[in-house]
Amino acid sequence: MSFQILGTGSAHPACTQTNDDLSVFLDTSDEWISTRTGIKSRFVCTTETLADLAAEAGRRAMENAGVRAEELDLIVCATVRGDYITPALACVVQKMLGATCPAFDINGACSGFVYALDVADGYFARGRVRKVLVIAAEEMSKLLDWEDRSTCVLFGDGAGAAVLGEGEGLRSIRITTDGNTDALRIPHVRGNSPFDRTEAEESFLFMDGQEVYKFAVNAMCTDVRAVLEDAGLTEADVDYVLPHQANLRIIETAKKKLNIPPERFCVNISRYGNTSGAGVAILMDELNRKGTFQPGDILVLSAFGGGLTTGACVIEWTAL
Ligand code: UT7
Repeated sequence: MSFQILGTGSAHPACTQTNDDLSVFLDTSDEWISTRTGIKSRFVCTTETLADLAAEAGRRAMENAGVRAEELDLIVCATVRGDYITPALACVVQKMLGATCPAFDINGACSGFVYALDVADGYFARGRVRKVLVIAAEEMSKLLDWEDRSTCVLFGDGAGAAVLGEGEGLRSIRITTDGNTDALRIPHVRGNSPFDRTEAEESFLFMDGQEVYKFAVNAMCTDVRAVLEDAGLTEADVDYVLPHQANLRIIETAKKKLNIPPERFCVNISRYGNTSGAGVAILMDELNRKGTFQPGDILVLSAFGGGLTTGACVIEWTAL
């Protein structure tokens, strides 16, 4: 037994920053950001906490699924950093939603939503759960060096969620890890241990963009082909590809390499930027709420990022 998706939700902060807004304090331009990435604007937290976004996305997913907090058997949050080191973001969200089930976080970076689905799949397979809330939530704006134009223009804040119930909607899933701190990392905030003799590094996101770019294109193509094969499907069977929204050019390159009609690749990067693990989940919710998916549709989710991690899965959409 695995799961089917019963409902989706998403949330973003109120404040939007356009490329022109960033150009006011950074040596950058709408022209550079748009043509190199496809990003036009992103949402950034001002008064919201990450838990506010995560709980709102979760609440909307539960409404969409018609599932009450007391029915949840597990909450898994995917995030690179919650509001606290402890308690986990999922614990804070559990209280906000009025749930009583176990709740914990995982860190799969940009692949976090797919990693969390894989964790949930294990609980369904062992018969431990009937309803699971999976939330991917990121507040990238607090992890960036806002004086580094090569990274800060790329990311945004947001949360996406799905309520899962018993079913056979998950046709296949794959996660991969290639341990690497050179290409992409966010060092921890340094404490004040009087014994610490390690090299201090500032607690900002560092990314070797071109290295990650090459990794991303290869990963996406390999993963999409692998999960389709595992599901006994071909590229022609795919109705929608929901790729990680890191750079429109990565998606365009993958489109050329994969034998999937280009119009089946979904994007929303222009409004959100890269929301790390939340991106695929937000995209799925937007499409679901537009009524895009029909029962029987084959969705392929594909994500990649810090770790380096990748995650992909094939989901057959069922009637909500
Ligand atoms: O979610 C995690 C996964 N992340 C990714 O998948 C990101 C993968 N990488 C990328 O998407 C791209 O590599 C970037 C968007 C990060 C960068 O694009 P690029 O085409 O690789 O640009 P670049 O780093 O080679 O920089 C080209 C030029 C440089 O100037 P010079 O050295 O050629 O004079 C940069 O200094 O563009 C300059 N530049 C900028 N100019 C204006 C870098 N950032 C900016 C900026 N505005 N914001």
